[in-house]
Amino acid sequence: MKLTKTLVAILLLAGAARAQSPSAAETKMNAFVSSLISKMTLEEKIGQLNLPGAGDITTGQAGNSDIAKKIQEGEVGGLFNIKSVAKIKEVQRIAVEKSRLKIPLIFGMDVIHGYETEFPIPLGLSCSWDMSEIEKSARVAATEASADGICWTFSPMVDIARDPRWGRIAEGNGEDPYLGSEIAKAMVKGYQGDLSGNSDIMACVKHYALYGAAEGGRDYNTTDMSPVRMFNEYLPPYKAALDAGAGSIMASFNDVNGIPATANKYLMTDILRHRWGFKGLVVTDYTGINEMIAHGLGDLQTVSALALKAGIDMDMVGEGFLTTLKKSLQEGKITQSEIDFACRKVLEAKYKLGLFDNPYKYCDEKRAATEIFTAANRSTARSIAADCFVLLRNQGNVLPLRKGGTIALIGPLADNKENMTGTWSVAADFSKSISVLQGLKEAAGDGTKILYSMGSNLDADSLFEVRAGMFGKTLHRDSRPAADILQDALNTASQADVIVAALGESAEMTGEASSRSNIELPQIQQDLLKALLKTGKPVVLVLFTGRPLAIKWENDAIPAILNVWFGGTESGHAIADVLFGDINPSGKLTTTWPQNVGQIPLYYNHMNTGRPLEGPWFQKFRSNYLDVSNDPVYPFGYGLSYTHFTYSDLAFSTTTPKGAQTLKATVTVTNDGAKPGKEVVQLYIRDLVGSITRPVKELKGFQKIMLQPGESRKVTFDITPEDLKFYNNELKYDWEAGDFVIMIGGNSRDILSGKVSWSK
Ligand code: BGC
Repeated sequence: MKLTKTLVAILLLAGAARAQSPSAAETKMNAFVSSLISKMTLEEKIGQLNLPGAGDITTGQAGNSDIAKKIQEGEVGGLFNIKSVAKIKEVQRIAVEKSRLKIPLIFGMDVIHGYETEFPIPLGLSCSWDMSEIEKSARVAATEASADGICWTFSPMVDIARDPRWGRIAEGNGEDPYLGSEIAKAMVKGYQGDLSGNSDIMACVKHYALYGAAEGGRDYNTTDMSPVRMFNEYLPPYKAALDAGAGSIMASFNDVNGIPATANKYLMTDILRHRWGFKGLVVTDYTGINEMIAHGLGDLQTVSALALKAGIDMDMVGEGFLTTLKKSLQEGKITQSEIDFACRKVLEAKYKLGLFDNPYKYCDEKRAATEIFTAANRSTARSIAADCFVLLRNQGNVLPLRKGGTIALIGPLADNKENMTGTWSVAADFSKSISVLQGLKEAAGDGTKILYSMGSNLDADSLFEVRAGMFGKTLHRDSRPAADILQDALNTASQADVIVAALGESAEMTGEASSRSNIELPQIQQDLLKALLKTGKPVVLVLFTGRPLAIKWENDAIPAILNVWFGGTESGHAIADVLFGDINPSGKLTTTWPQNVGQIPLYYNHMNTGRPLEGPWFQKFRSNYLDVSNDPVYPFGYGLSYTHFTYSDLAFSTTTPKGAQTLKATVTVTNDGAKPGKEVVQLYIRDLVGSITRPVKELKGFQKIMLQPGESRKVTFDITPEDLKFYNNELKYDWEAGDFVIMIGGNSRDILSGKVSWSK
């Protein structure tokens, strides 16, 4: 990254402004850590920077493992992916009883959307737009993980993603930096509390930076982006998580503007430490240092030195630090103070977690026996899951299903437990998940018959099952000819009043290294849907996915579509709750759903261009396609309900606000349907004239409200100049006076709007 002189000066100034004097607690910690560092050998310091995976450590034998020897020698700072108090206690004992300085280890894990009680995948969770529920899900995850010995989670993942081809879009909070920042804060709060209790665990924000902007949506791919776009659109959620107190951050795998994040000093030191004043721990991603050999930056010694110098503190798995830093120091390629700084950060993380006071703080067998996968946690997971589902379509009010009569449940995802939790559910016991079939049967009771038939395999040639299969999640594959499987389903459907088709992606078709170039339903599933439609019976599509899919045909043809993401352990129950109308769906999309792959990237907060398409598509010499309109199938913020909401009477406290004045924007929302329901009221702002081009709209606020049938409520948003700020071309964060369009509505497309002129 080439920086102009002005830019460097701005960064340094911002850094200096943040250098505050330490608090009493920090002074105490600094003294403790300094004293410890003064006793450490070079090897012990480098050892603290090493974060290996736990491998196959087994209880009762940890003492004889290779890892145990390394721990004893002081060559390990922490371990990740070790599960159970018994095992963790055993290795911790080696560290604090057998190593020379008795420094405790930290234990990390990918606790991404729950521990044994799994919540919806993060993309699903974001669709609740409910910060207290999101925080609660992280709290439950922290409680369960800490009860099992874990004190550090590699979450939240806050990468902004606008490309649904990218499989890891499932792990983030969608395309919007404002919403992403709110969720980042809620997650950090939920995980960490104040880090003092034994159920508070350290968060690790990832993947810093721009991992979600991978070219072509292909995982691990290059990113290249202007600083203005980085600061306005991609960096805010990382910063929000750090401002909320996240104790650690993970470097991303990708190349950022010519330098992989792991060796990118601009990211890791200039922005992170100097501009943002981050004082916590910086860890690589899995073998992130070693991978810079393939990036083409040099051999292991060279790339390890580059990473340390850029600002990385801890090396996950690859042991480049462990094996080369001493040599680099002797050769003058790195400095002692760089090693000391990194070592200090690792020790500080352990100190903040209270491990020097009590290395067994998280090792309480009683908690492990009573606090994991409890009935209360499962019930929380059930209600949160239901709030994440998005009703995409409900023509003729096919939903909710009426009880009584016969329902044909069809589809390869209908009777499968493994698939329910979604990607990154490493601590889950899949056998305890509730399938759709089980959920429907339990909810239906005696008066309603639920018939089941598979209808088709997931895909014709099992490509996805083979390539995406991971973490022991298997789908049953029916070996009969496709026509026989289909006929069976049609026979079943013929006996029913309504058909529920559980289709979509399997859990591992999204997540790491699960990018797709075609984001439609596999052809065999489309064929199944067509055959089901031909029966003339009402068809409800229960759609499983970890990404926005291109389902234009389905939207046009299927009367009811409920998108259920991967809703976690309890999602079979939650799906039944929503299908039968015991819970009214209220989820709203946090990504734009395109008509086809060719429209990607398609996101609501785009720039206007000099030749925007205004009026009907198609127009020559305007920014549009010959063969597809610019519209998505579903816009950002969209989601239906079993009731209906009307927006009226948009009003402003003034149309000429001045300076720091608060502008009150009010709208009346009316539930004019027949059922109680929750609505996410969304505020968008457009800055009409700027020193740089500004998006056509940006989310700036939202409120989730509950309305009874016939009830109206005035919803007010307080808007201040804080909401108008953006990073200008000099990366100065400020607002500019002028005209603004204020928009309020139930999604980013259907809005009421008015104009105000804001002067300085
Ligand atoms: C992923 C990270 C994860 C790490 C440790 C990597 O492959 O990119 O998100 O935290 O593995 O499991």
